[in-house]
Amino acid sequence: MVAVDFCNRGREAVASVPFQLAGLPPFDMRGKRVLEIGCATGYHLTHSAYEGAAERCGIDIDAKAIATGRKLYPELNLLVARGEAIPFGDGHFDAVLSRIALPYMDIPTVLAEMNRVMKPGGYLFASWHDWQGIKQWLLTPGHPLTWKRALDLFYIVAASIAYRASGRIPPRPWSGTRETFQFRKHIPIILMAAGFVDVTCERSEFHLRSTARKTVKR
Ligand SMILES: C[S@@+](CC[C@H](N)C(=O)[O-])C[C@H]1O[C@@H](n2cnc3c(N)ncnc32)[C@H](O)[C@@H]1O
Repeated sequence: MVAVDFCNRGREAVASVPFQLAGLPPFDMRGKRVLEIGCATGYHLTHSAYEGAAERCGIDIDAKAIATGRKLYPELNLLVARGEAIPFGDGHFDAVLSRIALPYMDIPTVLAEMNRVMKPGGYLFASWHDWQGIKQWLLTPGHPLTWKRALDLFYIVAASIAYRASGRIPPRPWSGTRETFQFRKHIPIILMAAGFVDVTCERSEFHLRSTARKTVKR
């Protein structure tokens, strides 16, 4: 799975990782409790942007990535867990982020979980795939379109359209995993439906990036 690519990234490699690709959250992290969903080894949380954060936690389903991250970055709190069932209490975090990991998850369930573990007014940062990014990936040399990849691409397109139309993401019939790309105009709709406000969404070179805040109930 994708995370294997991220497993062996050491602290030295962090400096060379193009953080701009999936982006850094544009929030001041000092004194904040921060959670990354789908963090792989957690290397992103070691960026200087997180200096002074009160807590830096990360979860990922990839046990190998988490084990590597625990060795490399003992200062982080890394757990093997699914974004669909976040093992923290209600309202624990000031900021929750997810970089290019939501596309592989059951997004409505994960957004509800993110909202649950965030404080009212808390910050959300997420990066997503869009169709343009998938096209760019396909056109990159070294990514030949085999029949298996074509079948998977067919699934991704169908699952993305189904999500847009019905709000539900069907899993791959052969593995039970999910993958979608998003339509830029859909992102504010899905974030607002999940209880977020002040939504922004922009396209970077490869991804869509969004920010939002959890509603403060009056
Ligand atoms: C493309 S990688 C992104 C890693 C990291 N966020 C970054 O910016 O480099 C996607 C990550 O999401 C994780 N992932 C996929 N499905 C997940 C789920 N349901 N719950 C938690 N993590 C998941 C994968 O194991 C992988 O580490």
